[in-house]
Amino acid sequence: MRVFALSDVHVDYPENLRWVLQLSADEYRNDILVLAGDVSHRIGLLRQVFESLQRKFLQVLFVPGNHELWLHDEAFDCSLRKFDAINELCEATGIRTSHFEHESVDFVPLLSWYDFSFGEPDRHLRRAWRDFRVCRWPARLNSSAAICQHFLDQNLPLPQTNGKLVISYSHFLPRIDVMPERIPRERRRVYPVLGSNGLGNQVMQLQPDIHIYGHSHINQSIELDGIKFVNNAFAYPGETRISRKRLYCVIDLAELG
Ligand SMILES: [Fe+2]
Repeated sequence: MRVFALSDVHVDYPENLRWVLQLSADEYRNDILVLAGDVSHRIGLLRQVFESLQRKFLQVLFVPGNHELWLHDEAFDCSLRKFDAINELCEATGIRTSHFEHESVDFVPLLSWYDFSFGEPDRHLRRAWRDFRVCRWPARLNSSAAICQHFLDQNLPLPQTNGKLVISYSHFLPRIDVMPERIPRERRRVYPVLGSNGLGNQVMQLQPDIHIYGHSHINQSIELDGIKFVNNAFAYPGETRISRKRLYCVIDLAELG
């Protein structure tokens, strides 16, 4: 069994959808795919991708990203209602969104959002970041910190992992130092909306061997505090220098013996 990571496949772009749909139907039958969010905000496209991938892999594991919770022309007036509908869609199509044990591996999804713990957004980011306009929340979730805490609370209690290999996964970044140092200063403007130190605290408590994340679109594989952090975002069509544009195998259990 191999474990593959993929995120930010953004199938609203036809070339990205084509890539997903043309993945081999035979090659991955014994493998797990961790799909770490930002597939599409369109429920119909989500269903198409889920059905296609679940046919090709032994099991697909999913955690929603921010794009999934965008409200456009769908029949939802609240991003949390859409979150519920996406979970129902996952259940209907066989996609796992909860703790999953398979052979010698424990897979743990960690829900989250961003809470500005990586920095305060500037005026430009507040104006330009689409989540602020196209997500809607109940009145009690009146800040990004409250939204983030709402999702972090759903991860508790963290599962007992009993000495197996542990792979956790989130859409958002659990710590900002997974970002490469080469990122230019002007690009760091988005850091406040990339993730949450609260999520990072949950990852440190869980102590996985590997943590898979998405959202930044910057492919990465870095070991920090004994945990391997992996990003394999497929990203937007033009983002060819920062993403591999292929499935990435994070571990092959056959090689471990
Ligand atoms: Fe995202």
